[in-house]
Amino acid sequence: MNIIIVGTQWGDEGKGKIIDILSQKMDYIVRYQGGSNAGHTVVVDAREFIFHLIPSGILHKGKICCIGNGVVVDPASLVKEIETLEASGISIDGRLKVSSLAHLIMPYHKILDQLRETKRAHKIGTTGRGIGPCYADKINRCGIRMIDLLNPVVFREKLKDNLKEKNEIFKKVYRHSGFSFDKIYKEYLNYSRRLSRYICNTHLLLNRAVKEKKDILFEGAQGTFLDIDFGTYPFVTSSSAASGGACIGSGISPIKIDKVIGVAKAYTTRVGEGPFPAEFPPAFNKFIRDKGNEFGATTGRPRRCGWFDSVMVKEAILLNGISELAIMKLDVLDGLQTLKICTAYKYKGKLFRSFPYDLEVLRNGRPLYKEMSGWRQGLKQPRHYQDLPSNAKKYLAQIEDILKVKISIISVGSSREETIFKP
Ligand code: IMP
Repeated sequence: MNIIIVGTQWGDEGKGKIIDILSQKMDYIVRYQGGSNAGHTVVVDAREFIFHLIPSGILHKGKICCIGNGVVVDPASLVKEIETLEASGISIDGRLKVSSLAHLIMPYHKILDQLRETKRAHKIGTTGRGIGPCYADKINRCGIRMIDLLNPVVFREKLKDNLKEKNEIFKKVYRHSGFSFDKIYKEYLNYSRRLSRYICNTHLLLNRAVKEKKDILFEGAQGTFLDIDFGTYPFVTSSSAASGGACIGSGISPIKIDKVIGVAKAYTTRVGEGPFPAEFPPAFNKFIRDKGNEFGATTGRPRRCGWFDSVMVKEAILLNGISELAIMKLDVLDGLQTLKICTAYKYKGKLFRSFPYDLEVLRNGRPLYKEMSGWRQGLKQPRHYQDLPSNAKKYLAQIEDILKVKISIISVGSSREETIFKP
């Protein structure tokens, strides 16, 4: 079975935990887009692991974890993650595979990302990890790939070409002193030595696995509304976070995908700038942020919080071909008297029941809510669906009814045990 896990909101839905659970039954786990802007937090035996690039499935013995061609790899970040895993006694040799076609994040990408943000009138609030500039170079056909890192002659030539143009831009546009060829060349040759054993043709490896009927899990990073095409552009990331990205970013044909599972938080969060129709007012925003520990895993920035927005998730179900939904962090809603689900937006007398991509509507539209009663008791204890408080079951049933999709997994805490599989 080949399954794609995809975020249905603005990322941080809790995909890491679902991926960790489902990885147990899989043979291969594949990252297909994004880079170290992502952050998956997985808690195992009270130990917390934060992954930015390596699929969290690496925590399971014997699983092959791939960083696909669609990912942009910051070698400094990758080496750090490898070292953390090794220091924790987790052996990754023979299990970590990095696509030779994945593009490299270079020091100038990170600096350019940060400098551009300072110049923008309408900031995106990027993670500053160089993601946008790296993907821009890929599309501009001047990017440097993993395979180039393995060939010092090609690497030297490409780096020289890039610095020739980029240093001019840095100096003239940004008044930045630019980058030294020798320093980057030396630093990256060290990464080459450190990473060469992991670099291979992951698309060949994965297609062989498909032929052998192995099970593959494709782990999406970010979420549908950060997707470069279908997100709240320009407040998006620079990759195809939606399920279609899994095929492009791994080299596996769409006809080989069996299922797409969507992941949604029981409410909504967003890091960075951009419209957020169902956002809470400030005091309640802070209350839920603290209760749900809503701080970015990559940058530590406070996440903005809001009600569950069914208009968004419905669009995500359509775009990704989602047949099952996992609802995360339901326990964060414990003890609230009233819960709200956003079912439409209203702007200038017009009702929007499907997602409006017009920034003006998204910014100024008034969310319309369905209100429901909350539950008093904590959700940490229930391990079976029937043991959930009846109002929690009603909340989930209402979401299923609006979205016309089955909720198959409910998460009520960060550990693997605090997960309910709905019959
Ligand atoms: P970038 O991906 O660093 O270019 O940032 C673009 C936008 O995507 C910003 O609003 C970021 O906060 C957001 N973003 C990027 N990665 C993640 C993620 O893993 N979770 C949540 N938001 C993200």
